Amino acid sequence: MKKLVITIDGPAGAGKTTVSKALADRLQYKYIDTGALYRGVAFEAKAKGISPDDEHQLEALCNNLELRFVRNKKGVRLYSGESDISDYIRTPEMSMMASAVSARPVVRKALLGLQRKMGAEKAAVFEGRDMGTVVFPGADVKFFLTADLIIRASRRHKELEEKKLPQNLEAVEKDMARRDNNDSSREVAPLKPADDAILIDSTECSVESVIEQMMKHINEKIAATL
Ligand code: DC
Repeated sequence: MKKLVITIDGPAGAGKTTVSKALADRLQYKYIDTGALYRGVAFEAKAKGISPDDEHQLEALCNNLELRFVRNKKGVRLYSGESDISDYIRTPEMSMMASAVSARPVVRKALLGLQRKMGAEKAAVFEGRDMGTVVFPGADVKFFLTADLIIRASRRHKELEEKKLPQNLEAVEKDMARRDNNDSSREVAPLKPADDAILIDSTECSVESVIEQMMKHINEKIAATL
């Protein structure tokens, strides 16, 4: 059976991670969270005192950075060199900093090659902001998943509480709006649906229903390639 590349783009908190993981499980595909890579760059920049505006230092950082995903008992973990940094990249501070470094062309260029390498064997579900537009313009099935801001903010608020990183709902909503604005208005690879993306709004849909809708499109594609 033909191995597909599936992309899921969309704003923060739209449910991309949950549905991408579920699709990858069902299809027995790899799941690649590209936001984690930008968070990895942000984490290392912060650790080395590099400002997200310092293009020159960011370039040097990216040239020496070794980010990779490792599957172990805890799930899929992000390693930078020999260190598992997964537990440090999900804070609200890292979200804003990832958004800031992701606007830098040198960072995008460095991660573009890495992401394409990860997709070389296909059979993968990629989630991010520019998967269908820039990284995999020839992807087999592209989705753009969105939801109203308040719904996305309440979902993220709940997630942060579960991770023992509580933040009040208003602050989450404000940060999210700012991050969406940064991500959609940057010059390089802004967040937007690919022309051939299937748009899904999860505001009034359960996760299961979103997964079912996506699986229907994927199965149609698989059937068309047989
Ligand atoms: O998906 P996330 O919230 O973990 O992503 C963190 C930030 O990384 C997001 O605000 C913008 C950036 N990002 C990006 O620019 N391109 C991607 N493909 C994925 C994430």
